[in-house]
Amino acid sequence: MTRQVTLRPETKNDFSEVFEVNRAAFGRDDEAKLVDALRNNPKAFIPELSIVATENDKVVGHILFTRIDIEDDAGNLHEILALAPMAVRPEFQNSGIGGRLIEKGLAAAKASGYRSVIVLGHEHYYPKFGFEPAGKWNIKAPFDVPANVFMAIELVEDGLKNISGTVIYPKEFETV
Ligand SMILES: CC(C)(COP(=O)(O)OP(=O)(O)OC[C@H]1O[C@@H](n2cnc3c(N)ncnc32)[C@H](O)[C@@H]1OP(=O)(O)O)[C@@H](O)C(=O)NCCC(=O)NCCS
Repeated sequence: MTRQVTLRPETKNDFSEVFEVNRAAFGRDDEAKLVDALRNNPKAFIPELSIVATENDKVVGHILFTRIDIEDDAGNLHEILALAPMAVRPEFQNSGIGGRLIEKGLAAAKASGYRSVIVLGHEHYYPKFGFEPAGKWNIKAPFDVPANVFMAIELVEDGLKNISGTVIYPKEFETV
């Protein structure tokens, strides 16, 4: 069966379904609450980069990109994006919805003028979309993680040129 899935920025009417999608996908509330908290942080939250996948007007997937900073050795801050979290309802997984959300999100981020994105995630999944270990640009996570799960992508040529250092996540991420 071919799924008729539509991708679009979320609206207020989607908030409770986005919560449910995250809760169902992660099997806990933490990421769902993180999304709610990030919506209330105007420095981090970018409405057009909170994107839902719907089928028959029901939200089946969600992806969020928020602003983060990278602090370099001289203490300068460089604003880029982080992809987190993303979720697809368990019964809808493995049919390409996650991949479509990533591709749509990266294109929307680029269209909004962002130049690069980092992600902490599965090392076999995100490279399909062009992510590479962030160590390539000397970008580090603020906590210990295996090098291959902390990744970045340039949305434009040299999008990470002269950007290196340690990621500073919005404080809302401390709860997950
Ligand atoms: C990760 C997730 C969003 C992918 O959504 P999806 O719609 O199933 O994604 P797609 O159909 O585009 O791709 C499925 C691929 O993801 C892979 N995948 C799914 N979960 C994975 C995991 N935990 N580890 C590694 N790979 C995984 C599948 O093996 C499949 O790979 P293939 O394309 O080589 O066959 C979905 O599995 C999910 O919601 N997982 C729970 C929440 C989560 O872990 N989110 C990501 C971290 S923020």
